[in-house]
Amino acid sequence: MAQTASTAAVAQAPRHIAIIMDGNGRWARMRSRPRTFGHSEGVEALRRTVEAAGELGVRYLTVFGFSTENWRRPVEEVNALFDLLRLYVARDLDRLVKEGVRVHVIGAREGLQPDLLRIIDDAETRTGHNDKQHLIIAFNYGGQDEIARAARRIAEDAAAGKLAPSEVTVERFGSYLDTADVPPPDLLIRTSGELRLSNFMLWQAAYTELVFVDVLWPDFDKAALQSAIDTYRRRERRFGGADTEQP
Ligand code: FPP
Repeated sequence: MAQTASTAAVAQAPRHIAIIMDGNGRWARMRSRPRTFGHSEGVEALRRTVEAAGELGVRYLTVFGFSTENWRRPVEEVNALFDLLRLYVARDLDRLVKEGVRVHVIGAREGLQPDLLRIIDDAETRTGHNDKQHLIIAFNYGGQDEIARAARRIAEDAAAGKLAPSEVTVERFGSYLDTADVPPPDLLIRTSGELRLSNFMLWQAAYTELVFVDVLWPDFDKAALQSAIDTYRRRERRFGGADTEQP
């Protein structure tokens, strides 16, 4: 069947993109504004990116909103990041429900305030039947913490006789992770020029293509997303297999 140029481009988009939204602080400093101003502009970039991902046919988008290590930041900044999640849900949830976006929040629930837990539950419940696009917000998330929590639950199930040690395979382990319902990311983008994973999706990124871009997160937009996707599409993915072009 003949395809138009635009449907061909959508078909080649990665199914799942994960983003480390880095550079809010530097963006604010360059404007002599507080770091929290950079984070609020970061929410605008997040809103643009969710929309752009939908338009570009990216079904799953995971964003790193708050890490288990971000508790080390000044309390005002931590509180501002929590307030931004509250604000984002308050402003955008109705639209996400209508537009077919399912919201998942991954990360440890321990340490989050009761009202934030209710907001997260409400967002997940109200969008629970959506399947057109998935927005996964990593909040109070750390890859090592996620793996440790999964191992703990596996150990509990084994101790309760629900699981034999021989049944702990890669697939079964993955089903205990926060991302059990989500395919692994095809492409991971980190903005701001830093070249680190910073404890993000350590298990899931085993064969993810990594793209580091020099843009600071508040400046990220559809063109930057498209450019990262173009870079991804030039990569050859082998998943540990051989290069079939070579003898
Ligand atoms: C890293 O920039 C960014 C963060 C620690 C937070 C990212 C949060 C948002 C974009 C907004 C809130 C998120 C949600 C989900 C509503 P940085 O502060 O480390 O920047 P720097 O390296 O330039 O200092």
